[in-house]
Amino acid sequence: FATQVPLEKDCTSITPPYNSLIQKLERVRKILNRPLTLAEKILYSHIIDPEASLSGNGRIRGEAYLQLRPERVAMQDASAHFKTVEELRPFRLQFMSAGLAQCDVPTSIHCDHLIQAIDGAESDLKRSIVSNQEVFDFLQSAAQKYGIEFWAPGSGIIHQIVLENYAAPGMLMLGTDSHTPNAGGLGMLAIGVGGADAVDAMTGTPWELKAPKVIGVHLTGQMNGWATPKDLILHLAGKLTVRGGTGSILEYYGPGVAAQSCTGLATIANMGAEVGATTSTFPYSKNMREYLKATGRSPVAAAADKAASQGFLSADEGAEYDDVIEINLSELEPTINGPFTPDLATPISQFGKFVKEQGWKDEFSAGLIGSCTNSSYEDMTSVADLARQAKAARLTTKVPFLCTPGSEQIRATIERDNVTSALEDVGALVLANACGPCIGQWKRTDQKEGENAILTSFNRNFKSRNDGNAKTMNFLASPTIVTAMAFSGKLSFNPMVDSIPLPSGEEFKFKAPSGQDLPTNGFIPGDNSYYPSPSPAPRPEVEVVIKPDSQRLEVLQPFTSPFDASSDKLELPPLKVLLRVRGKCTTDHISAAGPWLKYKGHLTNISENLLITAINDEGGEMNVAFDRDTNTSGTIPEVAKRFKARQQPWALVVDDNYGEGSAREHAALQPRFYGCHMILARSFARIHETNLKKQGVLPLWFTDKNDYSKIGSGDILETIGLSDVFAGKPDASVTVKVTKLDGTVFEIPTKHTMSADQLKWLKAGSALNYIRSIKN
Ligand code: F3S
Repeated sequence: FATQVPLEKDCTSITPPYNSLIQKLERVRKILNRPLTLAEKILYSHIIDPEASLSGNGRIRGEAYLQLRPERVAMQDASAHFKTVEELRPFRLQFMSAGLAQCDVPTSIHCDHLIQAIDGAESDLKRSIVSNQEVFDFLQSAAQKYGIEFWAPGSGIIHQIVLENYAAPGMLMLGTDSHTPNAGGLGMLAIGVGGADAVDAMTGTPWELKAPKVIGVHLTGQMNGWATPKDLILHLAGKLTVRGGTGSILEYYGPGVAAQSCTGLATIANMGAEVGATTSTFPYSKNMREYLKATGRSPVAAAADKAASQGFLSADEGAEYDDVIEINLSELEPTINGPFTPDLATPISQFGKFVKEQGWKDEFSAGLIGSCTNSSYEDMTSVADLARQAKAARLTTKVPFLCTPGSEQIRATIERDNVTSALEDVGALVLANACGPCIGQWKRTDQKEGENAILTSFNRNFKSRNDGNAKTMNFLASPTIVTAMAFSGKLSFNPMVDSIPLPSGEEFKFKAPSGQDLPTNGFIPGDNSYYPSPSPAPRPEVEVVIKPDSQRLEVLQPFTSPFDASSDKLELPPLKVLLRVRGKCTTDHISAAGPWLKYKGHLTNISENLLITAINDEGGEMNVAFDRDTNTSGTIPEVAKRFKARQQPWALVVDDNYGEGSAREHAALQPRFYGCHMILARSFARIHETNLKKQGVLPLWFTDKNDYSKIGSGDILETIGLSDVFAGKPDASVTVKVTKLDGTVFEIPTKHTMSADQLKWLKAGSALNYIRSIKN
């Protein structure tokens, strides 16, 4: 590979405007007049008009709606389709007429989700480029047209590239992927959002966020032995559960922060998404400075040093958190989380017992390392240390062992430093610099079905996520634990105490791994063709082509408003309940990934997967819905399609933390496409609730969670009081009138979280309709 690209970067567009942010913060201080947490400093210094957003608000956190101006947007290939197909299209004219033929903030597109993992980097990449050519061409042409930096397939995973190239202390950025918070490893606020939120930032429309609460995580002590930053977040996920961070930013502080590498902090921030946190951040540290310098951004480090000296990049003395969690790193033990949920945490010393108690076979079928969560130089050199120890004992891995480097820079650097060869020597298959098995793009041949376990260093382990098999149990662990266990093949193997018998009759025991934070000889960029020029000039003459018969791309039609324009009553039309969803329903359940990813740009085709792994609470079956009009049943997408054909608007009744998981806006677009107007939940996950609002679906919360089971399929729901909410009447709330199939009628109270702006989206039929109406 050529290495002509200088690592040193042009930092003009990637250095936060510290002076103006600090000035803005001074205005905020005058209003709030109290010590501020770091998260508040970063967030509030990006408020467009602090006096308007903060004045008169007694309590800000958890209550005030902030109008913000993020500094950057990043999108991955599976979510960028709609931004470019649908959402940028209406803005093209507006860009032109305003003389703005480009995005309002620096924006990048990353081709990482669509690369299939089959037999290794080179052939997988070639094959995936051919099979996704239409989509990649489309994204590249849209990027050229609007001056967006385009990272081609093979360049790496969005979050690793952002950390290496764009992230900076004190910055506020949005990304259309739930693990965007990864960039928090550089002491910034990086927030995962749906595509419509990204469009706000890209078009210079104020981006609204309800001010999150701030949970302080106080780190003391010192990690040792096998414990890693991954174990810290796995442990914390066990404490907080998948809902514990909802509506909050996790702000780490204390003496335990400074010792962690920047990439280790990124791993912790990455998996803050698993506890539902808005994002995670850390005070600026020496290791962040060194990482910035090592990745060619010395000017950013110098500017951050200055901003830190003015107190911008850490919390004020005496700042108060909404809650504080204490973690003593000296007591931290490697932890394994799963299966099927990232918050089921078991310390490794208890894991063998746990496996036995569950009656699972004491074996696993594959070990996977890498992904956006754990593919840093430090991770890779640590696992290479273990591989070399094993090789010296003539051991190879007992199970298939796959590795996904996070970026071309990492791939090239670890290849030069003989890390890759150390892994390959013991049997590793190195995959393309892409998401691959983490997002279900794993064409597995060794184990297609049946119960089996895998160990991964990834961040998420919902059913069917990796290989499409709902019976594959994915256990999350640090890359070093996954690697060491791969030499044993047993789930009960604890490399800290157990040894592996050798043919000679001797026993082999690993020494605790040792890795290197940054490469002694510096990073090398690798293949220079992957690197876009910074802030490319827009090229309005570029034609963005969508073939009319395309099965991959489709121009969306705007959703229509559900409200009767001739009536002064703003209530939703009567809605028929499609189904009552039982239990965990993540965005993977609502809109599955894997083979469906190829239809992300084609709403009609991808909607065929709507809720196909959701459980119907009436009967307990997966992907079954009842059509009470015809007394028949069908799959959920089939019955939803029938409702759409009958022009029957409908609603869903769902359980707790509905929409947990990713920022996948298709999980909101697809029900809306089939005619869903309201979802009544025991509770919602943050990003998904906002995505629903953006697409014109009304999310309502049961005031009494027991009311969930009073509503069934075929019941008719009518809103009462929505008109008063629209009118801004104080304390207005929505009551839902339920008409049961047998004619019984009753009313149930609900709560809503709609802000004044979000009500405008609902009224217009979608946020995009509303923005279009005010921009034209
Ligand atoms: Fe990709 Fe998995 Fe990360 S899908 S962005 S590697 S969480």
